[in-house]
Amino acid sequence: MGIFDPAAYQGIRRQVERAESLPPHCYSSEAFHRREVERIFLRAWNLVGRTDYAPRPGDYFTVDLVGIPVVVIRGRDGVVRAFVNSCRHRGTKLLDGDGHSEAIACPYHSWVYDTQGQLRAAPGAKEMAGFTLAEGSLTPVRMEIWLGFVFICFAQDAPPLADYLGDLADHLRSYDFESMVTVRRATSEVKTNWKLYVENSMENFHLPTVHRNSIGDVKAVWTPIVGDPGNYLILHSKTERSRATLSGETGFDRIPSLSGRAAEGAQYVLVYPATVLGCDFDCMWFKQMVPDGPGRMRNFAAFCFPRTALERPDFAEVIQRYHRRFERVIAEDNAISERQFAGLNHSLARAGRLSGREPLVHAIDNWILDRVLDPPASGIGQ
Ligand code: FES
Ligand SMILES: [Fe+2]
Repeated sequence: MGIFDPAAYQGIRRQVERAESLPPHCYSSEAFHRREVERIFLRAWNLVGRTDYAPRPGDYFTVDLVGIPVVVIRGRDGVVRAFVNSCRHRGTKLLDGDGHSEAIACPYHSWVYDTQGQLRAAPGAKEMAGFTLAEGSLTPVRMEIWLGFVFICFAQDAPPLADYLGDLADHLRSYDFESMVTVRRATSEVKTNWKLYVENSMENFHLPTVHRNSIGDVKAVWTPIVGDPGNYLILHSKTERSRATLSGETGFDRIPSLSGRAAEGAQYVLVYPATVLGCDFDCMWFKQMVPDGPGRMRNFAAFCFPRTALERPDFAEVIQRYHRRFERVIAEDNAISERQFAGLNHSLARAGRLSGREPLVHAIDNWILDRVLDPPASGIGQ
């Protein structure tokens, strides 16, 4: 039986209390990973950052997503755009990291692009028969902005972002994400499969063990919500206090506008395939889990706060409590995820059993299989 044959996955197709986990090869196989890239990451809307990463004209940030280098840059006209981060002469990668640039000069033969992606100078072009600058613009990448988040999509024929997200905004409106400010960004490289990290982010079963020294003792009633319509999941945690600071520490005020479920606790939102938003009473953080092969990923995390928090005279002191909490919890999740991968990444590993305590792990794994297995599943977002 091949690894894309649906008959090999009957164990996880059962209801969660009777279901098995994904077979270990789903986490370790190169072929399975390539299929995920092709059918999921190259077709989905992927979150890559916030508009406030590039607040002024000429500001940019770069991301490498499943091997494709992308630059997001705010043009002189104030508009944020995404381009393939590759020179149109002979392909050299143009920009690295984050920064500010009045013009983008290729480090190879000095072709120069403006901040709106137009080719402005092309040494050697006089010796190119029939070439005009207009045909050398940077290649645009589909990009949409939603609540201050920047999403990109590599598939020209995929539905628009609003269709992909369905009714997700209804759950999140009262946080006023658009006006939040990104205070900190942190990247870690993790030796694990991206799905293990996503699954971990959407189950509370591990909190009393993995996070016993950080946030594991916050009392909560947990409710799983499956996006319908929309490519998302929510794990709602009904609580009294924010989990964005360590137990015993106080933080900033509650966001006054919160309503509905947002006013009753935290919401952990998976935007498929690999972005988790943590929405709490006082702040929002998110992580993008970007695969670099079956056994490696990068976790790009960012922490966003209401402007009123930044205006407090004690901001510099109080924010340290949040930083301490995030550093500790991310280190705990990184470590358990690497450890899980190490236990699965060998020829004697076998599928295990899922519990009714991890319904969203079951939902995530089945969402992946719907897109990866033969025969081809219907397109994402439909
Ligand atoms: S590859 Fe960029 S100028 Fe030649
Ligand atoms: Fe965790």
